[in-house]
Amino acid sequence: MCTFTASKEKKMSKRYTITAALPYTNGPIHIGHLAGVYVPADIYARYKRLTGNDVAFICGSDEHGVPITIKAKKEGVTPQQIVDRYHKIIKDSFEDFGITFDNYSRTSAKIHHDTASEFFKTLYDKNEFVEEVSEQLYDAEANQFLADRFVVGTCPKCGNEESYGDQCENCGTSHNATDLINPKSAITGNVPTLKETKHWFLPLNKHEQFLKDWILEGHKKDWKPNVYGQVKSWIDDGLRPRAVTRDLDWGIPVPVPGGEGKVLYVWFDAPIGYISATKEWAAREGKDWEPYWKDEDTKLVHFIGKDNIVFHCIIFPAMLKAEGSYILPDNVPANEFLNLEGNKLSTSKNWAVWLPEYLQDFPDKQDVLRYALTANAPETKDNDFTWKDFQARNNNELVAIFGNFINRVVVLTNKYYNGVIPTPSDFSTIDEETLAAIKAYPSVIESSIERYRFREASQELMNLARLGNKYLADEEPWKLVKTDGDRTKTIMFVALQIASALATLSEPFLPFTSTKLKNILNLSSEELQTSWSEITSKEILLPANHTIGKGELLFSKIEDSEIQAQLDKLEASKKANEAANKVVEPQKDTITFDDFTKLDLRVGTILEAEKMPKAKKLLVLKVDTGIDVRTIVSGIAESFTAEEVVGKKVTVLVNLAPRALRGVESEGMILMTETPEGKLVFVNPDTMVSESEAGVSNGTSIS
Ligand code: 2FM
Ligand code: ZN
Repeated sequence: MCTFTASKEKKMSKRYTITAALPYTNGPIHIGHLAGVYVPADIYARYKRLTGNDVAFICGSDEHGVPITIKAKKEGVTPQQIVDRYHKIIKDSFEDFGITFDNYSRTSAKIHHDTASEFFKTLYDKNEFVEEVSEQLYDAEANQFLADRFVVGTCPKCGNEESYGDQCENCGTSHNATDLINPKSAITGNVPTLKETKHWFLPLNKHEQFLKDWILEGHKKDWKPNVYGQVKSWIDDGLRPRAVTRDLDWGIPVPVPGGEGKVLYVWFDAPIGYISATKEWAAREGKDWEPYWKDEDTKLVHFIGKDNIVFHCIIFPAMLKAEGSYILPDNVPANEFLNLEGNKLSTSKNWAVWLPEYLQDFPDKQDVLRYALTANAPETKDNDFTWKDFQARNNNELVAIFGNFINRVVVLTNKYYNGVIPTPSDFSTIDEETLAAIKAYPSVIESSIERYRFREASQELMNLARLGNKYLADEEPWKLVKTDGDRTKTIMFVALQIASALATLSEPFLPFTSTKLKNILNLSSEELQTSWSEITSKEILLPANHTIGKGELLFSKIEDSEIQAQLDKLEASKKANEAANKVVEPQKDTITFDDFTKLDLRVGTILEAEKMPKAKKLLVLKVDTGIDVRTIVSGIAESFTAEEVVGKKVTVLVNLAPRALRGVESEGMILMTETPEGKLVFVNPDTMVSESEAGVSNGTSIS
């Protein structure tokens, strides 16, 4: 159990460099990013600060790389315009959401260009690169080498047909573009040719032994199994040199002879962004940046999503090791992916909950999303976010447990004692047990956080609120107040101690709520603030005679209509996608007017209909064609029931050669067409202007 006091806390202070993956600036942040990286990283950083550590929490925009160039091309603007737009959107939304980066920088900043160039030059001077002219994929029509996302093909490892040149999003493997099977240019769709070009390669094979010793031996126990497992499988497969330069025009110029017209690979410069962002922050704060990256006593932790594991656990550490003066990460607690309502989150399909939109729709509910994402975090496996679960987390946990407890304590304290905390009498056994239980919470929550189990930690916090509710429900101060004033005072005193502990312990998980609760409890002055460790060490957290403030609801119920509005938004995305992806059948070969006049089209009436046994699609119809009554077998049973079609006027092709379908002779065809939504409808003679126009109806099919 953690029993040190506030002053001891200072002595035990440690330096932490906490990084969160630099988001690409080609779109806003969505819940997948938040759940995978930014919420857990912020919980960790807040917790480390609260427990008295020296923290640099670092992030920034990843502004190079092919996706940004592609987006700029699509929109007809410059890459700089794209990154300027999204850098602002992302930075503002992080701030509004309460993510407490010490610095949110960007890789287009001069300090980053200088730092990354210098880093590259150091490795170059130390002969840490292999310089090689090799054949690379080239699109002659686009006049461009095809690296990274400029090329798609089949992943040599898992067979995914849409793997990118540098990484397969399906299995996470990182490879060279020339490894792809059946590569195609993402610019023109052409099959690339091969063209010689010079690049600088980081010989990962040279670092294999170090990586084995450092990770496979050194971090077997403390790294998450999903991270350790992935890294082990890559190392076991054998590491090969990786090109760290590209023939592109957007990025950091290669700063060595022969590098003209080439830039650094985005995954070479981006992680160095953590270092340049630390430098920028330190300069602003009047600090020295170097201990945060070079002192062995500093603990470096990278928060990332699982698709970034290879870069943070193999490539960047190999770069740091090759440079020679940097520390290595102590841990890389990568999360798995979050899905949305059963489907993979997708920027291009607009299947996402975007942070700026969420903040607009739920302006005072930052903590609700933080809590829902933490309680359901994809820590050990992919998880699903549903709006129903979000609503339930709010209504059944935040409102009904946490909010309800605080509300009862605050309302009763104001009602019975005008807000002045009463002096307790002797504590009963249950009071003693409750006060002892409060003291155990910091170490219980700490133990979960230290193992990067944030969902478990958030549930422990909720358990403390549950404890408060149970205590009040068992002790029933609202009944005792009429008969036993002294006992009531003691109960309310104990309940207020729980409320005070909640105000401190909730800060990493529910920062807006924690601030609100501190205001409600009137904890503005220094000596009334309880630090994390004081919850365990101090006898009393909130003293008698302190006056608390008036009540204010911490959380409010989320109505079904608000959830429905979000589901409707997603449904609209789905529809828009379906419409965008609908393949329009190409027009068939031209026919002559003579061909057309060969068709004998008549208006008929369906007299009888029955389902063809054991045939999902077929109805057997008796149709009055005006000439005769005949049998027609029609493939419309998936769109219409037999009862529905009886009595319908239909257009019939009567001179089609008869043919047997499942043993029933069909003597003609009913004309059908599809609506834009894909619904099958009759070519209805009642709404036709003339018989000939019906035949010209676009997309008409014969069923
Ligand atoms: O996957 C991504 O979104 C990358 N932009 C993450 C970069 S993390 C770091 F290395 F900069
Ligand atoms: Zn793959």
